[in-house]
Amino acid sequence: MSSGDVPSAVGSPAVDLDGVAVGYGGQTVLRELSLTVPRGSFVGIVGPSGSGKTTLLRLLTGRAARHQGRVEVLGRAVRPSNVPAGVGYVPQLEAVDWEFPLTVEQVVLLGEAATSAPVPWFSRAEKQRARALLERLGLGGLERRRIRELSGGQRQRMFLARALLRDAELLLLDEPTSGVDLATRRDVLELLGQLHHEGLTVVLTTHDLNFVAAHLPRVVCLNQVITADGPPAEVLTPDALRRTFGAPLQVLRDGARIVVVDAEQVDLHDAAAHRREATYRGDGWQGDDEVELPW
Ligand SMILES: Nc1ncnc2c1ncn2[C@@H]1O[C@H](COP(=O)(O)OP(=O)(O)OP(=O)(O)O)[C@@H](O)[C@H]1O
Ligand SMILES: [Mg+2]
Repeated sequence: MSSGDVPSAVGSPAVDLDGVAVGYGGQTVLRELSLTVPRGSFVGIVGPSGSGKTTLLRLLTGRAARHQGRVEVLGRAVRPSNVPAGVGYVPQLEAVDWEFPLTVEQVVLLGEAATSAPVPWFSRAEKQRARALLERLGLGGLERRRIRELSGGQRQRMFLARALLRDAELLLLDEPTSGVDLATRRDVLELLGQLHHEGLTVVLTTHDLNFVAAHLPRVVCLNQVITADGPPAEVLTPDALRRTFGAPLQVLRDGARIVVVDAEQVDLHDAAAHRREATYRGDGWQGDDEVELPW
């Protein structure tokens, strides 16, 4: 029996990591990682480039390099090269070879085997289900399109269809909001919200701290180790952000709303306002308090 046939252990967390370390060629990328994600959660993972976000998601899909510690997904230990049943993975779009000569339907139907299967054969029922899913995700009519001809948002949704066709209980999405325009971003996020509402566990990585602050109940800050974990209102503090990003970020609070801004940006705004004030007070530039803008 393959691991794909084993029903997931009901009641177990969607993700359970304890004392995990992962590295590539002797270089440690993640360490001392202990993390529990209960089923039905919606969690955002944030951290600077190279902090190990993709590595963490790959670890959960059985694709990471060797690791130490306990890695359990949907109640089962993850084994290398063995995508756990019930897990849908939407890779970082930049990591995909879009020139690979596959159609949308092939990617969705073939799933993980898309690049290695010989000549696959699919039942009419499977194809109908795939089409219904593509339709639901706004990709109706694009089944025969080559994947290289899709836009960023369509690519995201194609991978979502692939995950949903396999009845994923846990969706792992690597930067689903990058590389798409604002309207598409909103559509993708709405869709994820719906899927979460339907009971799926969603774990995504993002560089968009303000999206996390506004929409997700839990954020995990990562930079080789977990630097903070909890509700955005508690976690997104200047201290935690400095520990995570190594850069000064300011957190503006307006009631329950949190906005994270680059402290440098704030300074520039202050400087610009300052300069406007100086202009306003006289004809032309005057006053000792004029601030030189750095451009
Ligand atoms: N296959 C690999 N072989 C060797 N090193 C790797 C490999 N994949 C990732 N790394 C290294 O591991 C570290 C973490 O990379 P990872 O892709 O997980 O970061 P990330 O947080 O997803 O970054 P980004 O925000 O840019 O996507 C980086 O230093 C990267 O160079
Ligand atoms: Mg990444």
